[in-house]
Amino acid sequence: MVETISAAQLRDRIEAEAFDVLFDTRAPEDFEDWRIAEAENVEYSGSDDELIGEFDPEEYDADDDVVVTCATGRSAGKFAGYLAEVEGFENVSYVDGGMEDWSLVYDVVPIATEREDLELLQLQRRGKGCLGYLIGSKRTGKAALVDVTSVTDAFEDAAAERGYEIDRVFDTHIHADHISTGRELAAKYDVPYHLGEPASTRDPQFEFDAVEPNETVEVGDVPVKAIHTPGHTTGMTSYLVDGEALLTGDTLFVESIGRTELQFAGEDAKAGARVQYETLHHKIGTMPDHVKILPGHFSLTNCGEYVDVEPGMPMFSTVGEIWAKNEIIGLDEEEFVEHMFDNLPSKPPNYERVIETNLGVYEPEDDDERTELVLGPNRCAATEGSAIADD
Ligand SMILES: [Fe+2]
Repeated sequence: MVETISAAQLRDRIEAEAFDVLFDTRAPEDFEDWRIAEAENVEYSGSDDELIGEFDPEEYDADDDVVVTCATGRSAGKFAGYLAEVEGFENVSYVDGGMEDWSLVYDVVPIATEREDLELLQLQRRGKGCLGYLIGSKRTGKAALVDVTSVTDAFEDAAAERGYEIDRVFDTHIHADHISTGRELAAKYDVPYHLGEPASTRDPQFEFDAVEPNETVEVGDVPVKAIHTPGHTTGMTSYLVDGEALLTGDTLFVESIGRTELQFAGEDAKAGARVQYETLHHKIGTMPDHVKILPGHFSLTNCGEYVDVEPGMPMFSTVGEIWAKNEIIGLDEEEFVEHMFDNLPSKPPNYERVIETNLGVYEPEDDDERTELVLGPNRCAATEGSAIADD
């Protein structure tokens, strides 16, 4: 009997290593472009209900615990049926919604804080590498949400489950790798939707509650200070929470630095890298060593490998640690500018259309197009791998 499981259940089984083999029936080029690290590729056509790829059942045991995934769940269902009925596998299940649903799976991870009253939650989008945040003021019951993606309910549930009233919504910048639902969410709760004032340089086609550089707004009684950190974009704004944690968006990651040539393209490219150098060394590097760096993304390779982080565990560093270990930070300006273009990963899928959507210039037809536009890893870092020196 073939079972159906959800993408969240697949996450739990991967965590528990509660399976023997995970097959992915998509075409090899799609598999190469983005996959779950544990998966093996066996191409199977859902429309023709036919095996296309190489498959030798002798390599497996009939009582192996087999899980199958694909793009949306359809061909995986067919291959699961084939494995059970034709090849006699006894324990077969397939993932409903496939990789589309995998890209919607979120983990909610608490980040330790110095102040008792402050609650910081990191929302990790396991299949895509996006990081969002909930800033909670326990005493007042107010909370703010930061960098909310299309998986809005993950953020709303995190607040509701802890009895928080959503008081503000922030975006660090106009994203290029995922569609923000910050505006819609702010409208739903009738609360301010914040971007840093410098985001107006990108001419967004909507009203927003601008936060000026160095202005502080309150979430309950938790101060959140806007720090203009241009480089990845002209409008990039980081948020310093209660003086102890900096939400850096795509400026600075645990293992790397934000790429600059998505907005600063062509002849502006080097200028963008110089702006990023200035931001890193004169805005963030001057902060106390203990300040936590809570980024907007973590790096995920096309092969589904996590770079220097572990899903479900807190993903952060500190100013002191990054300045001690990040090899790019140690470069002088000229070397830095050169390095920023040395081994750039390919650009986020459909990034120009995603930017247009986040600027309010383009409206995707429906949820399917919204999902399609952002499938795949985020690719917001300037390096494919880690820039952190081995101990
Ligand atoms: Fe970005």
